[in-house]
Amino acid sequence: MDIRLLHPSETPPYELLLLADPSRRIIDEYLERGECFLAEENSMIIGVYVLLPTRPETIELVNITVVETYQGKGFGKKMIFHAIEQARSKAYKTIEVGTGNSSLPQLALYQKCGFRMTGVDSGFFIRHYEEEIWENGIQCRDMVRLEMDLS
Ligand code: COA
Repeated sequence: MDIRLLHPSETPPYELLLLADPSRRIIDEYLERGECFLAEENSMIIGVYVLLPTRPETIELVNITVVETYQGKGFGKKMIFHAIEQARSKAYKTIEVGTGNSSLPQLALYQKCGFRMTGVDSGFFIRHYEEEIWENGIQCRDMVRLEMDLS
C-alpha cells in the first residue's frame, strides 16, 4: 500500500469520506483546513484520511476510511501509523482522534494503535447532525476523545 497527498486538482473521494462522516458540510470544512491523504493498492484508492491542525502543537486525525471490501485486512491500522508518523515529522506534540460512543470497532482500533481516552464530548452528534445515527444497536450521541502524546 502507498500513501500520498491528494493533489489540489483531484476530486476528493467523497463516497469514501462519507462512510466515516455523514455530513458533506463537515467533510468540506475538514478538507479546507486539513491535508487529505490517499492510500492506494495497485493504483486503486482503497483508503483516505485527513490530518487537521486544531491547536498549536496538536493535530487531529479525521475521516479515516478504508473501502469496505478492503476492511479488516490491516490497512486501517497502517494508515493510522502513517498519520502518527506524519504528525511526528511535522513536530506536533499530540495527535487526537474522536469517535462515536457507538463505534465499537473504531474504539478498539484506536486503542490498539496506542491512543488513550481523554474525555467525552457529551451530545456532540445530537448537536451537530440532523439525522439520528445508530450503530451496533446503540444511538451515537457522544464523541469519545482519544489522544496520543508524541513528545
Ligand atoms: N474488538 C476488538 N478489536 C476489534 C474489534 C472489536 N470489536 N473490531 C475491530 N477490531 C480490531 C481488529 O481486530 C484489528 O486489530 P488487530 O489488527 O490487532 O487484530 C483492528 O481493529 C482493525 O484493523 P484494520 O483491519 O487495520 O482496520 P480496517 O482496515 O478495517 O480500517 C476503519 C478500520 C475504521 C478505518 C474501517 O473499518 C472503516 O473504514 N470504517 C468505516 C468508516 C469509519 O467508521 N471510520 C472511522 C470514523 S471514527
